[in-house]
Amino acid sequence: MEARLPAPALCPSCSQASDPADLDLALRRAQEQLVQSEKLASIGQLAAGVAHEINNPVGYVFSNFTTLERYLKDLFRMLAAYEAAEEHLRGTPAASRLAALRREIELDYLKEDVPTLMSETLEGIARVRKIVQDLKDFSHVDADQQWEWTDLHRGLDSTLNIVNNEIKYKADVVKEYGALPEVQCLAPEMNQVFMNLLVNAAQAIDKPRGRITLRSGAADGEAWVEVEDDGCGISEEHRLRIFDPFFTTKPVGAGTGLGLSLSYGIVRKHGGRMEVDSEPGRGSRFRVTIPVRHEEAAAP
Ligand SMILES: Nc1ncnc2c1ncn2[C@@H]1O[C@H](COP(=O)(O)OP(=O)(O)O)[C@@H](O)[C@H]1O
Ligand SMILES: [Mg+2]
Repeated sequence: MEARLPAPALCPSCSQASDPADLDLALRRAQEQLVQSEKLASIGQLAAGVAHEINNPVGYVFSNFTTLERYLKDLFRMLAAYEAAEEHLRGTPAASRLAALRREIELDYLKEDVPTLMSETLEGIARVRKIVQDLKDFSHVDADQQWEWTDLHRGLDSTLNIVNNEIKYKADVVKEYGALPEVQCLAPEMNQVFMNLLVNAAQAIDKPRGRITLRSGAADGEAWVEVEDDGCGISEEHRLRIFDPFFTTKPVGAGTGLGLSLSYGIVRKHGGRMEVDSEPGRGSRFRVTIPVRHEEAAAP
């Protein structure tokens, strides 16, 4: 499948569309792109809102649950003391009532199962908390965009958690992180880039189970992050077009063709670059490199 809207012929010297029909096409493309980025922004806002709302109830469920666990431990201790005291009731009607009740409620099983239930539930709540935190980290819509010193590994990890759903059934994720200094960047936007690369990598996997490798490193005042997959790869012909807005090879509904073009724009805004190395049938490797320190002049 090809791009929804073909790229208009651009004048090589001024990069403007040379033909009125092309100009119309370029306008429509720009408009669609604006609508799309507006949509992305409101999705981010929605995610942050939902995360904020969930945060509170999850917080008290978590803290009540920890208290409940302590109370239950005490109750079990008390129960053990009662059981020890039962000795003295042997032969009385009270003893047989207690024995019947013990069988009815399967006390021994209960004693085993309650702690398991508690720890599984706690794990579940902890996971919800983590997702909420990741959503907050990811959307980070606090007013203006800030060039902040950021741990890119943290951004990559929380983005990975968010798109884990898309990935976990298709590929194993291998992390080969190097040493990264904090990088001055627009953190939510960089997360957006990671998300696009991760989702693309997962979508490229065309065998029962693939592998996505994440690498990172820094050299000469620059930091880089790499997302490699062992999926379908990209043909030479397509490779020239993957950064074009609306270029997609995916069926309608699966791809918008905007992921890489938006990512490219974000990376350029950081004064960085994006490289791709791919072989059809073997897989692809996308590398994002940005300067560690943001220079105002570097942004176009
Ligand atoms: N990791 C990858 N492996 C193979 N093809 C890829 C990969 N990443 C991107 N592509 C190609 O680039 C095209 C454009 O990607 P993108 O801009 O993210 O749009 P979309 O994913 O919506 O199609 C994809 O349709 C696909 O053909
Ligand atoms: Mg994509």
